[in-house]
Amino acid sequence: MEFGDDIEQTPKGKFHCKLCDVNVPNKASLEDHLKGRKHQKLSSVRDTRRAQETKSVFVSGFMRETSQLQLADYFQQFGPVAEVIMDKEKGVYAFVEFSETKGLQSALSHPHHSLEGQKLRVKPRERKEFRYIPKKKQDPKNSLLSLEDLSQELCQAASVNEQMQRVVESFQLSESEKKVRALLVELLQEVFTEFFPECQIVPFGSSVNTFDIHCCDLDLFLDLENTKTFQARAKSCSEQQTGECHSEDARSEDSILSDIDLSTASPAEVLDLVAAVLRKCVPGVHKVQALSSARLPVVKFSHRELGLQGDITINNRLAVRNTRFLQLCSRLDMRVRPLVYAIRYWAKQKQLAGNPFGGGPLMNNYALTLLVIFFLQNRDPPVVPAVDQLKELACEEEECVIEGWDCTFPSQPIAVPPSRNTEDLCTLLAGFFSFYAQFDFAGSVISLREGRALPITSFLSKDQGEEGEQDKARDPAPKTPRLGPVNVLDPFELSHNVAGNLNERTQKNLRRECEEAAKYCRSLQYQRKSAKGKAWGLVRLFVPCGSSAHGPPGAAERHLVIGIPFRAAVLPDAVRHQLHSAGDLFRQLWFEKVSHAVVTVFRDVLKCSVEPAGSPRKAGHTGQSSGKDAGLLGCCSSSSGLAGKIAFAVGQTAITGGDGDENRKSIHEENNNCDVDTSLSESGKEHRPLNSDQGGVKRALPSGDDMTMSPSSKKQRLDSSDKSATACWHCLLWHRVWAARRKVRRDLLKSLPAASRPEGGSVELETQVTECIAQEQPTAEKLLEFSLEAEVLGGTENTQTVLKFTPGDDQAGLFQDFFHFLESFLPKMTEKLLEKLE
Ligand code: UTP
Repeated sequence: MEFGDDIEQTPKGKFHCKLCDVNVPNKASLEDHLKGRKHQKLSSVRDTRRAQETKSVFVSGFMRETSQLQLADYFQQFGPVAEVIMDKEKGVYAFVEFSETKGLQSALSHPHHSLEGQKLRVKPRERKEFRYIPKKKQDPKNSLLSLEDLSQELCQAASVNEQMQRVVESFQLSESEKKVRALLVELLQEVFTEFFPECQIVPFGSSVNTFDIHCCDLDLFLDLENTKTFQARAKSCSEQQTGECHSEDARSEDSILSDIDLSTASPAEVLDLVAAVLRKCVPGVHKVQALSSARLPVVKFSHRELGLQGDITINNRLAVRNTRFLQLCSRLDMRVRPLVYAIRYWAKQKQLAGNPFGGGPLMNNYALTLLVIFFLQNRDPPVVPAVDQLKELACEEEECVIEGWDCTFPSQPIAVPPSRNTEDLCTLLAGFFSFYAQFDFAGSVISLREGRALPITSFLSKDQGEEGEQDKARDPAPKTPRLGPVNVLDPFELSHNVAGNLNERTQKNLRRECEEAAKYCRSLQYQRKSAKGKAWGLVRLFVPCGSSAHGPPGAAERHLVIGIPFRAAVLPDAVRHQLHSAGDLFRQLWFEKVSHAVVTVFRDVLKCSVEPAGSPRKAGHTGQSSGKDAGLLGCCSSSSGLAGKIAFAVGQTAITGGDGDENRKSIHEENNNCDVDTSLSESGKEHRPLNSDQGGVKRALPSGDDMTMSPSSKKQRLDSSDKSATACWHCLLWHRVWAARRKVRRDLLKSLPAASRPEGGSVELETQVTECIAQEQPTAEKLLEFSLEAEVLGGTENTQTVLKFTPGDDQAGLFQDFFHFLESFLPKMTEKLLEKLE
């Protein structure tokens, strides 16, 4: 073979190096590989090993306590001995390597060998094929199993329940790993006490919340409360200047505390000191980094020998408490732990989770764990009680308030009656996926406190004053959560949306992965072990995203769809109030506003002609749309608009004793001014003329307590009465508005005097950019035509306006470029217009 025995050619014409276990795509890369360090090193190790084998004998039969030296002495008689390698663990065999092959031959030809009265067995050393074992596979005990190894392990289990237990066993920290962590905590405690007398280092997060995995980081809270008191005492003592202060506190003179006043120091100053102590005084610690501007200021560090990464925070008492809460949940029911492990691993494989402290658009493990617990609170009967119920079961000594938030729950599981739920793990896991596949993320706020989903409308108009119980003077942080595509309230810090960092895409991915998993869980492959040794149960669920053969259903059609998500945060207060008052009908009302904004973007910003679909098209280039265009915002219905329906629904509420007249009036008036007609259809697909006489919206708005509902009750209600709104238009595009847009924008900004420059990214600026483009590309010919259908999806779907594009004749193949541009431009501009609504 041209490249030697190590190299084999694959059927696809690539090369595989057996020695290094790597594939290389072509000859040139192969030559580089063969000259490379790895290959050269392994070849030389193999040569040495082979040479050793030809000069070594295998020896057994000696006593356990026999030393290498004794063996070397004995075999010296046959020739110089280079090395003796003992099987250390068992002490039952050894390899004796001679410096020359002569020694080996002489030893083998000797009929009997004995040492200290023991008969030795001596034979040629077996020649084994040299195999390279990559480092990560060398010690599977303390590192995460590869998916391949895990899959093999899981396939052997007898049931999904057993598979889930095996996931826990494969990932959880071993006793020795836990011991190492405890020792590091002890060491840190010792060192930090030197500098911050009476401080406490408290671990929280995955090392201690019972959801630990190999290599998980070590989250630590440095509690300086006692140190502050200590410092205050020491200060007052020195102020007395009696010279007779015998208190231990006098030590503070020499400690780091003489450099800093903890009662007034900023978190950044304290963190800098913590970082300095870590860097200079804790053996083995390196890569120390203070991140003072993070949501939770933190010092990150690594420990070289222990191979651990750690975080130290200083203002994180709530995290220590919520860690205790997770521990309690885990101890309340044996099913919690395996379920959380399986779902965490699934979410990691699907790239849904993995950001600690919400540092990106993926979910952090804490938020994901809360999703699991919320699901368990919503089983029938529940597996875990709501936090409010747990609070009732706590005794007086367990009462706990941190930063104004009630964090009371029992410390021991014995205080909580066992769950009556008897579902097995296999059913619960499948249930988790179906639950979130159907969950109304955009319309709800997940509350573990109450154990149910709260309608998002009840948060839209809340301002800081409504959380009356909280001590505002002490904690000026906002008391309302930052709403987003996924809203999961922290069970204690009720103003914190732990999933607030998720974006629309992550939410969609979460839902889609849940849908796919739920579908798979209904198949026999999930429920039954394969008799033919095929992947089954959890194994298929753990296939990483991107590697499954089939994409998500409908992927092919999705590429001409743009979604405008409902984002309460961008809306002006008045609009939020209005939506809030509309109750369940907020979707339709919001849809009207979005549709109007979308049409404005096409018509005014991109200078398209926009007409309602179905109406006769204008022949020529209209350039600017007429006032008539504005009134022609498309629709599929000839019936009265949404305004009437909302007014009707609000009227019904009055009969049932619901919302006040004020709100009704303002909605009615507002909607009479809307220029979008929307039709309401029962299913969202079938368009049906509708007015109040013809059985329009009959359901009264929920009132009072009825505003909150569990996901299941909400689903039922929405199925029977929630409506979808649709609208469609026909559009003509006259200019290549996407081409060189950035350059035109830059030139435009340069040419304008600073005082009259529109704000970057504003509707005004983008309108002017299009005008510049239009001037440079005068045309009387339409460039593209397309139809646009808009539909609001709500209820069990995400609340969003979905815009479907259907291109007309596009021989020049321009539509894809235009669409690609719209994908980011349209949602941004629409949002800008919504922000400015009055
Ligand atoms: P993580 O999300 O890192 O969870 O948050 P984890 O269980 O430690 O998982 P790993 O480390 O990713 O394997 C760590 C801790 O930080 C607190 C919680 O106490 C959590 O256990 N935390 C996190 C919050 O209090 N709020 C948050 O929004 C996020």
